[in-house]
Order: sequence, then structure tokens, then C-alpha cells
Amino acid sequence: MKVDGRHYRSLWWDDDAGALRIIDQRWLPHDFRIAELRTLDDCTAAIRDMWVRGAPLIGATAAYAMALRMAEDPSDAALDLARDRLRATRPTAVNLRWALDRCRDALRPLPVRTRAEAALALAHEIADEDAEINRRIGEHGLALIREIASRKTPGEPVRLLTHCNAGWLATVDLGTATSPMYLAHDAGVPLHVWVDETRPRNQGALTSWELGSHGIRHSYVVDNAGGHLMQRGLVDMVIVGTDRTTRRGDVCNKIGTYLKALAARDNAVPFYVALPSPTIDWTVEDGLAEIPIEERAPRETTHVLGRTEAGGIEHVQVAPEGAEGGNPAFDVTPNHLVTGLITERGVCDASAEGLAALFPERAAAAGKTA
Ligand code: MRU
Repeated sequence: MKVDGRHYRSLWWDDDAGALRIIDQRWLPHDFRIAELRTLDDCTAAIRDMWVRGAPLIGATAAYAMALRMAEDPSDAALDLARDRLRATRPTAVNLRWALDRCRDALRPLPVRTRAEAALALAHEIADEDAEINRRIGEHGLALIREIASRKTPGEPVRLLTHCNAGWLATVDLGTATSPMYLAHDAGVPLHVWVDETRPRNQGALTSWELGSHGIRHSYVVDNAGGHLMQRGLVDMVIVGTDRTTRRGDVCNKIGTYLKALAARDNAVPFYVALPSPTIDWTVEDGLAEIPIEERAPRETTHVLGRTEAGGIEHVQVAPEGAEGGNPAFDVTPNHLVTGLITERGVCDASAEGLAALFPERAAAAGKTA
């Protein structure tokens, strides 16, 4: 997507430097900074400390981390250790495990001397695939948005609500939940997006920055506003991303997503999840019981990061001295609250049958290993 007229992906390979370049998201939306990752250690820190974040982007970064490690040491031991270290950085987003298993399974049978080159080619493949998956999700989501638009008077905007950042910054390009928005806007469908702030890390500010850069009308609202907006009939459709969706369609996503789904159900607002297939965890059925929920540092809730009037980017304390913070980073929305899953192969019910109909080969493979 474009920043100041120049096309960027959220990460890219610098051949001359032999390094991965990323947009360092810790500073957004206040400052656009690019960082260079040269080693496995750089990449594990960047994922753990959220320089990069968002399930698909974490997966792609991990694939490049494997490539960087293979260029230093392509041995079996280095391969396995790199996978284990990266896997421990963030527990909830399944794209991390998916990308690491894919890299390890592809590289392990290869002669050691060919692994560095193969690992880099695979990382490029994973990154390109993500961009293409998102483009297709955009097309399927666009059809849903067009259908809502067709019931409105010409010029009246389709009003969407989204939570967290499932935008191009959270993926390699286009985003998942935002891809239908970008395609709709580019096709001339008038939109207005309610962007949840998404405390404590305020990923909504990233979404707002993205949508603003693309000229999409939106309002940045506090997390608690969603129920009220839906009761007043101001939301036509909710679209969110996901960090892990189970084979029966339970959706794990950023903390607060479940409350939006409850409010949507109570107000008959369609609640859709943009779901790239690498985010489906075919090994898991019951999201609530089986998905590990990342517990992040309490300081993320007691302090906020922002730009001061003097222009510095600083943390300030919002909770009283000594207050204990609790910080579960994700929650699970049970499948019965989800209207549909927008995947790269089309839209389906949030159910085992729905997912198996779109991905029969993967459902069958999972059934065999279960
Ligand atoms: O903690 P984060 O910022 O990595 O969480 C990101 C989200 O929850 C996104 O909504 C999700 O990864 C989907 S991104 C396409």
C-alpha cells in the first residue's frame, strides 16, 4: 500500500544488505520508521516486542528469520533451535507455527549447503502468497459490501466497524479485514468505517492511519462505543481479522472482539471475520478450551504511549501508582456469534462443515492426523 505516494509492503528483503527490512510499528502512527533485521535475534525481538505484529506478518517475518539463520548456520540443530525460539515469541497467532513448520518441513530434507537459498526462496513465497490471499479475501468481501450498498440510496455510505488492526500493516500487503474496504473504496462504493481504538496497544490508531492514507472516511472511537453505535443502527456490518480460527470456526482475535460479536448479535448486525487459510488451526476444535491466550505485560494497561504536545513520543501513566494491571491480549468468539468467514476461497459459515467445504483437502488431512 502507499505511504506518501510510494508503494510499501510491511516487510521486504534487501538483497544488497542481505537483511530484512520492516516498518517499525512501535512508532506508528506518529512516526514512520524503517528498521533492518539482520539476525535471528533481531527477528525474535521484533516479533516479541511488536515491532511487527498481526498474525500473517508475524508468520512472514518468522520465515525470513529462518532464512537469516540458515545463511549463518544451515545445520539441523540450528534449524530446529531457530524454529523453537521463534515459536516461543508469541503464543496465540497460529500463523507463526504454520510458517515455521512449513519452513522446517521443506528445509530438513535438503542438503545443508542448499538450505540458505531455499529458505530465502520459501520466505519470498510465503510473503507473496499472503498478499495474494488478501487480494482474494478483498474480492469476496467486496461482494458483501456491494450487496449492502445496493440496498441504500445512491451516495449513502456503507457503515463498517472494525476492531484492532487487520490491515496491510498486520499482513504483508492489503490486510485481511481492510482488503474489502480498500477494494470497495477503489471501486467507488462510499464507505464510513468505525475504527475501535483497541486498548491497550491502540492498534486502531494503525488502522486509522492506514485508512486515512488511502482516503477512506472513518471515525476513531473508544472500544466501548461499538454497542451503542449498533443499537442506534449506525453499523451495517462488522469485519474483523483473526489470529487463530479453529476447524469448527471459533474465532480468536484481539481482546474485545467477543464483546463486539455479542453486541452485533443482539442488534442483528452481520459479524464477519476475514480469515486467510494459514490462520485456520485444523488441530483445534474448541477455541475457548484449546487456544493459548497471550498474557502481556501489565504495564501496557497502566501506561499509554502517545505524542506529547512538544512532539516527543512518550509513555504516560494512566493508572494509580501500584495498581495491578491484567492484560489478556486475545479472546475467543464462539462460532455461533459469527455470521460468516471471508476466506480466499469464498465466504462460508463459521462451522466445521463450512470450512471443510471450502478446504476439503486440509480438513481431510487434519482428520487423518487427529
Ligand atoms: O497483538 P497484535 O497486534 O499482533 O494482534 C493483531 C490482531 O489481533 C489482528 O486483528 C489479527 O492478527 C488479524 S491481522 C490480519
